[in-house]
Amino acid sequence: MSPSRPAVFEPARLGPLTLRNRIIKAATFEGVMPHGAITDELVEFHAEVARGGTALTTVAYCSVSPAGRVHRDTLVLDRESIAGLRRLTDAVHAEGALASAQIGHAGLVANQISNGVRSLAPSTRISPPGMGLVRGATLGQLDRVVEDYEHAARNAVEAGFDALEVHLGHNYLLSSFMSPNLNKRTDRYGGSLEKRSAFPRRVLEAVRTAVGDKIAVIAKFNMTDGVPQGLWIDESLPIAKMIEADGHIDAMELTGGSSLLNGMYFFRGEVPLREFMASQPKVVGWGLKFYGPKLFPTYPFEEGFFLPEARQFRAELKLPIILLGGINRLDTIEHALEGGFEFVAMGRALLRDPDVVNKFRDEKADEGLCIHCNKCMPTIYTGTRCVIREALRETPQAV
Ligand SMILES: Cc1cc2nc3c(=O)[nH]c(=O)nc-3n(C[C@H](O)[C@H](O)[C@H](O)COP(=O)(O)O)c2cc1C
Ligand code: SF4
Repeated sequence: MSPSRPAVFEPARLGPLTLRNRIIKAATFEGVMPHGAITDELVEFHAEVARGGTALTTVAYCSVSPAGRVHRDTLVLDRESIAGLRRLTDAVHAEGALASAQIGHAGLVANQISNGVRSLAPSTRISPPGMGLVRGATLGQLDRVVEDYEHAARNAVEAGFDALEVHLGHNYLLSSFMSPNLNKRTDRYGGSLEKRSAFPRRVLEAVRTAVGDKIAVIAKFNMTDGVPQGLWIDESLPIAKMIEADGHIDAMELTGGSSLLNGMYFFRGEVPLREFMASQPKVVGWGLKFYGPKLFPTYPFEEGFFLPEARQFRAELKLPIILLGGINRLDTIEHALEGGFEFVAMGRALLRDPDVVNKFRDEKADEGLCIHCNKCMPTIYTGTRCVIREALRETPQAV
């Protein structure tokens, strides 16, 4: 190991866990769960990442209930999923890595038509991804959502997961409660920062109580929604401090953006609108043609693009922070660790090359191959994959 890069490949503690290095695979919806089934492809997706040297791989978006699915091909972390997920966690462990389950309720981002069941929001509003009106939740419905989180968390422990990542980002249900533009409630879950954060914080407490100290609990947390009148750092930072003071999580993974209102904010780079339109039913494709540029504004890609915002959080919080967003180079990881971040998470760099962590470790590469074309995004409907990697596999001599 080069003396200039000691920390990256040294084991490190995350709550009750010891990670073999500082690199985590960020949740990227795998798109191989037809009607929620746990397939061999899903197991292999994570086994491959684990073989590639990543310390902790995140199974993307496990819904806590049928209503909380993004669409019908999303898995629900219910009792029936335990045996299949146990196969997945066993496969990851056999490769020397650990497994995390991202749990959430999609709220305004849940496709109600595909799911065949109504979703929930903090306040009633029309949602394009929700395919119509999503009603503000009653207090009784929210109590049931908390129970769903508890059940999912216990099921994750039984399935052998080492960590849970509770999704408090991207304007999914818990995130939308914190956003002033989406939460217009006047009861105990709306209004002041304390009240808008009360429901997500209640869920974090319930999840921690359900799993105890057996596994790590991580919150994927929005620093900013990236939309006018949405959550911004002036509010998210005080909320993060409240979450830290509550003491229910072991680490915070920092993100931003809104799958409801600003879908490119947490990707940056090119907008694959043509590929998106082609992946959708005709009527949705037409809608995208008109609303796409509004829904997916272009942001130039920059390496480590969330660093300026994340530094504000690092300066104010003591708990371990996972830096995410546009990490493609080893020196970015080294600088992040030098800057006080305990871990980094990588999404697209690992889709492009699941072996890139081993290559970093063995000094065979110091940069990943992802070019941030974002053409992997529309592949979530047909099996998430990097289109360049796929092209190389199919015609290696031609590319
Ligand atoms: C194909 C794809 C699917 C994604 N699915 C999810 C998801 O299910 N849950 C989530 O929180 N983030 C999801 N993300 C966002 C990533 O976790 C990450 O925040 C984003 O890609 C930025 O990190 P990167 O620059 O390392 O790719 C997805 C990203 C991609 C590219
Ligand atoms: S398709 Fe491949 S190269 Fe393009 S953004 Fe996705 S992972 Fe990166």
